[in-house]
Amino acid sequence: MPTTTSESPNPKPLDVRRVAGHIGAEVTGVDLAGPLDDATVVKLRKAMLAHKVLFFRDQRLTHAQHVDLGQRFGQLTRRSRTQSNAALDSYPQILTISPQVDEERYGRDYEAHYRTRWATTITGWHSDMTHAVNPPAASILRAEVAPSAGGDTQWTNLVAAYEGLSVPLRAFVDSLRAEHSFFAGYRMVAHDPIDREIIDMIDGDPLVAVHPVVRVHPETGERALFVNPSRTGRILGLSPAESGHILDLLFAQITRPEYTVRFRWEEGSVAMWDNRSTAHIAATDLEPGTRRTLHRVTIVGDKPVGPDGFVSELVSGRPFGTEPGA
Ligand code: SIN
Repeated sequence: MPTTTSESPNPKPLDVRRVAGHIGAEVTGVDLAGPLDDATVVKLRKAMLAHKVLFFRDQRLTHAQHVDLGQRFGQLTRRSRTQSNAALDSYPQILTISPQVDEERYGRDYEAHYRTRWATTITGWHSDMTHAVNPPAASILRAEVAPSAGGDTQWTNLVAAYEGLSVPLRAFVDSLRAEHSFFAGYRMVAHDPIDREIIDMIDGDPLVAVHPVVRVHPETGERALFVNPSRTGRILGLSPAESGHILDLLFAQITRPEYTVRFRWEEGSVAMWDNRSTAHIAATDLEPGTRRTLHRVTIVGDKPVGPDGFVSELVSGRPFGTEPGA
């Protein structure tokens, strides 16, 4: 795959430059505030499929432009009622990620609290919403306020992780299915009052799904290791001990440094990723009180399909789409 492609004769051609060995490319020569012409949308989609995550700098998008941008790639999901945000009432598609917004929304920085409940040191790795039967196809995240230090995000290439397994192990995982739920990677403490609040909030609208452990990408046909330490709780048909060992091995595989890329946020930075072939983790190195405000839209996804044709099944809740959740 070439590291650079210049595809237009105009003075600022769209340029896609790979930034790491297996994943990630920086895109220049495009103003995401739009409106984007169809040819540019096709190029960006192709680049996203090839590189899994695209990075853009110095993009000054309003909320409306962010929504318009997302809609060029598909229908947008709506945030749930528990993620209320009065400042964004007119933009139910945008989810704001920020310690301060969490404090306004829930009375505390929930993310910081969750981190104290990680069941493993790598729990924070996830693909968006895999506890839904149809996790988003893609996500577009933009930085309004970036910290002067820390707060980077990392992504990993789940296709490269799958392809890096030995042939017999690939054949073994090809036929497995796993259950995904919100708390799978956490050790919540039911008698802790804050945990209780969180559990009650999530249990009010529990989404649980069974996905193939290996997902065949609907556009590229590539196979991806579709598990993550935040939401994947068990492999069906195995004993709990067997499932735990296999999942630990797969989680270690998807978080191997060689499959990852790390992005440093600046004001106006945008990341756009294929949620079907990547997982990511928000950095956990922010000083308390640091301001970091990111806004995300996600594109409605379809149900994952495994190599044997198994289609993800809903265990609890409803598909994640354009209707607001509970
Ligand atoms: C996300 O999980 O979509 C947000 C990642 C981040 O805050 O870095």
